[in-house]
Amino acid sequence: MAISCVGILKRIITINILVGVVFFLNYKLTERERGQTLTYSFQSPAIVENDVADVDYYQDDNDDKNRAHAVDMVAPPKDDNKTMLILIQSWWEHENYKTGSTQFQECEETRCDITMDKSRIREADALVFLGQSYNFVKGDIPTYRRPDQKWIFVTREAPLRGYFVNSNHAVLRHAINLTATYRADADIQWPYGYYLPRTTPYIQKPLQRKDPKNAITWLISHCRANSQRMSYILDLQRYINVDIYGRCGPYGCPETGSCVEYLASKYSFYIAFENTDCEDYITEKVWENALNTGMVPIVRGTKTDFSKFLPPNSFIHAESFGTAEYLAKYIKYLIDTPSEYAKYFEWKKSYETFLGGQMVFRCNMCKVLHETRYEQRIADLDKAWNAERQCFKYHAELEKELGLP
Ligand SMILES: *[C@@H]1O[C@H](CO)[C@@H](O)[C@H](O)[C@H]1NC(C)=O
Ligand SMILES: *[C@@H]1O[C@H](CO)[C@@H](O)[C@H](O)[C@H]1NC(C)=O
Repeated sequence: MAISCVGILKRIITINILVGVVFFLNYKLTERERGQTLTYSFQSPAIVENDVADVDYYQDDNDDKNRAHAVDMVAPPKDDNKTMLILIQSWWEHENYKTGSTQFQECEETRCDITMDKSRIREADALVFLGQSYNFVKGDIPTYRRPDQKWIFVTREAPLRGYFVNSNHAVLRHAINLTATYRADADIQWPYGYYLPRTTPYIQKPLQRKDPKNAITWLISHCRANSQRMSYILDLQRYINVDIYGRCGPYGCPETGSCVEYLASKYSFYIAFENTDCEDYITEKVWENALNTGMVPIVRGTKTDFSKFLPPNSFIHAESFGTAEYLAKYIKYLIDTPSEYAKYFEWKKSYETFLGGQMVFRCNMCKVLHETRYEQRIADLDKAWNAERQCFKYHAELEKELGLP
């Protein structure tokens, strides 16, 4: 009897504690919600005229010395059903961005509209600045900014290639709210490619028997690059044949048809070396030229964790062999052992790859604009987009000495 009394007492105490917790959580929630209604000010689009010179978003923020991203989160109201107007402020020269709300029809989040008409800046919820635009023209830097407007930094290039050239750099360095890049930490993801669990049936094609003497190919048009990829290949060629196509080698693709498809019909391995060795920088060389066509990409780079981005066991990482000689030995082993080579295609049973076209950018941007309707800024773009930290610098002179064009 006494035992069960204690039991009941225990239960009562537990229930009380639970009620207390629930009450406390409820209280907290109301507090938060109250806070939201008070601090949230996006519903009334207050138009403020500003002169570029005195706006405070150009000032260096000492509090954020060690943080690239500074975020103050205030969740958007649940009943919000706003269409976000995105203004493409600068884009690749001569390229007109496809405009209109229909551009978002196939996205998960469709409530966006896109324009290139700069006279609509007052309506725009977001402005897009292409950070690799070498011909930034007068008028690409607005003299007006609505306080709730998100300014988006977009680039497909690595930090070593520079961004916001000349005076635009100083103006925009502290004015950006979101980044849209290939980097894993970008606010808006725009990779060159990605893979997902397969949703379509896998049809296994027998691996084509290709000429074992010509196993490796490389299609290249910029012979000299910061990553000194050519030097590596010249070294590799001492141990194994590499057929170089394009401006920097003796071979040429047929006049008609896809060059990479042609290469894939002949070669088993594709050199997919980037022009710079920067974190997360994996381009169409890997996705489009190699993985998509059925060649095994040979990648190189010390700053990128390739296994984080590419399908499992789908690529060969040059650095993991130490020297070019050992890489050559391994490639020869794979050529002699087709069952081992075939393992580089096992991933296709479970995954499929996709290319990161403009649609990926648009859809992700629209989604993020709806998700991040709180205050968010990049305190200093130089820290978020930093060649010193994010790229490995080789000695620039070496390839010049080799006499490369
Ligand atoms: C949101 O807006 C769209 C288009 O204006 C409308 O069709 C839809 O019913 C709205 N949804 C809500 C939940 O208000
Ligand atoms: C965008 O960034 C600027 C510059 O840091 C900042 O002043 C502004 O409050 C931010 N706006 C939003 C809506 O996040």
